[in-house]
Amino acid sequence: MTSKTKLPTYKFYINGEWRESSSGQTIDIESPYLTETLGKIQSISQDEVDEVIRSAHAAQKKWAEVSLQDRAKYLYKWADELINMQDEIADTIMKEVGKGANDAKKEVVRTADFIRYTVEEALHMHGESMMGDSFPGGSKSKIAIINRVPRGVVLAISPFNYPVNLSAAKLAPALMAGNAVVFKPATQGAISGIKMIEALDKAGLPKGLLGLVTGRGSVIGDYLVEHKGINMISFTGGTKTGVHLAKKATMVPLVLELGGKDPGIVRDDADLQEAAKHIISGAFSYSGQRCTAIKRVLVHERVADELVSLLKEQIETLSVGSPEENSVIVPLINNKSADFVQGLLDDAIEKGATVVTGNRREGNLIYPTLLDHVTGEMQVAWEEPFGPILPIIRVTSDEEAIRIANESEFGLQASIFTKDINRAFAIAKRIEAGSVQINGRTERGPDHFPFIGVKGSGMGAQGIRKSLESMTHEKVTVLNIVEE
Ligand code: NAP
Ligand code: G3H
Repeated sequence: MTSKTKLPTYKFYINGEWRESSSGQTIDIESPYLTETLGKIQSISQDEVDEVIRSAHAAQKKWAEVSLQDRAKYLYKWADELINMQDEIADTIMKEVGKGANDAKKEVVRTADFIRYTVEEALHMHGESMMGDSFPGGSKSKIAIINRVPRGVVLAISPFNYPVNLSAAKLAPALMAGNAVVFKPATQGAISGIKMIEALDKAGLPKGLLGLVTGRGSVIGDYLVEHKGINMISFTGGTKTGVHLAKKATMVPLVLELGGKDPGIVRDDADLQEAAKHIISGAFSYSGQRCTAIKRVLVHERVADELVSLLKEQIETLSVGSPEENSVIVPLINNKSADFVQGLLDDAIEKGATVVTGNRREGNLIYPTLLDHVTGEMQVAWEEPFGPILPIIRVTSDEEAIRIANESEFGLQASIFTKDINRAFAIAKRIEAGSVQINGRTERGPDHFPFIGVKGSGMGAQGIRKSLESMTHEKVTVLNIVEE
């Protein structure tokens, strides 16, 4: 954008209106790969946060009384509007977070599917009842009716890498379950989040039910998290931020989906061609900027040379460049992230790792890099790079692979590649992670599967049904029948 062109200014969303902040402060959003500023977002004040939360509470009281079928109509309409706007939203995602054009489009379509499935799941969730006489001394005259009720106002905080999908994955279940939502998108990703809310606004959602607050997490984050008007927090982002937030949020239910260091464990009986294909796609798509990316390979030494050679061959065919050309390897979200990734590479090389391919950088574009002979002394063995680098750690047994996999502070997912299904299950049982994939890459979808991080990777669960459950609490009404 030339200096003569006026930058688009994006407003925040409060009580059904788009508004500029009275703070007068805005944040410029730069593209990670274009030499242009995409627009300005509002850096809103604490008074405005208070106002958003007040409107949310007022709207939620009425919304809780709206039938599920009527709530469903708004959400279906939202999914339709997202599809109508898919080109515009995908273009924004691409420019704002540097995601490949096709993947950005898929993110929007996946989101519409997610919303529709959420509606259908919610329509088919029913409470339960219990008879008193199943407990010793109990009586048939007591009947418990157990229903799920909304929590109130849900604070949804999302990361940059799926600015639409991971946001809607919180908003849709929260709204369908009868809550209001205060949505704080990642600053880099906020324009995409704003477009997604424009679609919800077009769907005619009642005023106040959804508030969109923009501003740096470091400025308004703590205020939001500690706010007495927030009844539940659903957060996706880095482990450091998640831990900080968990310390601030006292007695408020929390779901945290955080970072990962997913291992790909390759046994000596694996189909190496297949394993290499899944590892490449798992590790390098969107330049490794996925929580579920394969972030280390633990391979049996007997097949390590062959696997490394297959990985090298495939890495060297990966397209590198612009998201507009659907390159697999694209510039990282900012220079700071690229510096971090380069630091991990430099540390590993200094400590004796072998660069099989890569270790080339142009600004925030890091070429796909394969590092062999990585050891536990190197930071890259343990840290989440969120970039296109893959460390190979050679092991001599399943036992050693399991030990190294579990030594990590993270526990999101793991992949096991083997032809021996019994061994696969035996290893899966001992891996400390929310999900284990057998002969496939680590990934979140399909989106109705439970998605769980343990240890430093999170608390609670997402996935459509799990999110609906976490955004409600059970309430018991006991009927005491007077016997005639
Ligand atoms: P991040 O830096 O932790 O930011 C995540 C969100 O937290 C952003 O909206 C950020 O706002 C906000 N935030 C920052 N400080 C805050 C505070 N004090 N209180 C409340 N909110 C605050 O993460 P990211 O760089 O966007 O995303 C990458 C990380 O997310 C990686 O570690 C990745 O593994 C993880 N992730 C996990 C999952 C999962 O489901 N497990 C999914 C996707 C990503 P600002 O943008 O304004 O700073
Ligand atoms: O970045 C974290 C996302 O939850 C990963 O989703 O496995 O579908 O790419 P994905």
